[in-house]
Amino acid sequence: MTAAAKRPETLDVMDVGIKVRRMDFDFSDDIPDYWYDQDPLLTLFLTALSATFPEGEKQFIQSVRNFQDQITDPELRKQIRAFIGQEAHHSKEHDALNDLMKRKGFPVLRIEKRMTRMAQWMRDNWSEERQLANTVCAEHITAIMADFFMTKSPQELEKLAPQVRKIWAWHVIEETEHKAVAFDVYQQLVNDPWLRRSQMVLLTVLFVAETAASTTQLLQASDQMRNWKMWLKGSRYFLGRKGMVWKLLPEYLDFYKKDFHPWQHQRLAELRALKSRYLDEGEH
Ligand SMILES: [Fe+2]
Ligand SMILES: [Fe+2]
Repeated sequence: MTAAAKRPETLDVMDVGIKVRRMDFDFSDDIPDYWYDQDPLLTLFLTALSATFPEGEKQFIQSVRNFQDQITDPELRKQIRAFIGQEAHHSKEHDALNDLMKRKGFPVLRIEKRMTRMAQWMRDNWSEERQLANTVCAEHITAIMADFFMTKSPQELEKLAPQVRKIWAWHVIEETEHKAVAFDVYQQLVNDPWLRRSQMVLLTVLFVAETAASTTQLLQASDQMRNWKMWLKGSRYFLGRKGMVWKLLPEYLDFYKKDFHPWQHQRLAELRALKSRYLDEGEH
């Protein structure tokens, strides 16, 4: 093992940089209802995720802010500020996408309200350490899902309607850039592997149940519940041999390793390629 492999976080974070980009997406009503491969299930799956982002990201920011003052490393302090900036912008832009889906008649508001209640419950009942551990876990789930669209199945981004492609590509890029920030804060100040792992088990159950319930609620508002072709394609997308679950499982399980660090999943070349393709940021 080289020195770089031992402490990849230091090298890679410097290489990646965490850039706060200001976007101003305009989601007009002429965007097709089913903007992901013209598929109701896949579109409403991403809509369900999008509906949870503003409240979820607010909670992620808060959980890191609780510890921000105790961090003395100037580089990590800079990364925390960039992490907060990126997440705040994601919320703003996903609010706009969520508004589009509300205008189309989907019950996005119900999901948002449920998320607000859940986030409040977590703040009332969990220690600040557990809230930070939860953010670390959520950031890992987000990072491996981003990796699905960046590395494992990059063709999927091309299946999005052009009007919504950039928000998802941008979010994939920035989730990858800041994937280790909450983790590094946790390692420096909490460093409890049992809490991190047990929280991942809990969050995985919550996340799968919440996403499935929200997607179903959104689908019920459409006339697609009996679209069997859609269900067949969807089950292949998630559970097929080349489906999302199987593709993400190895990286998901890596999280439970004692010496895990997010930058053990090297993605620098893919990140550069995605930035130049979707954000017009030249290779550097
Ligand atoms: Fe985000
Ligand atoms: Fe994030």
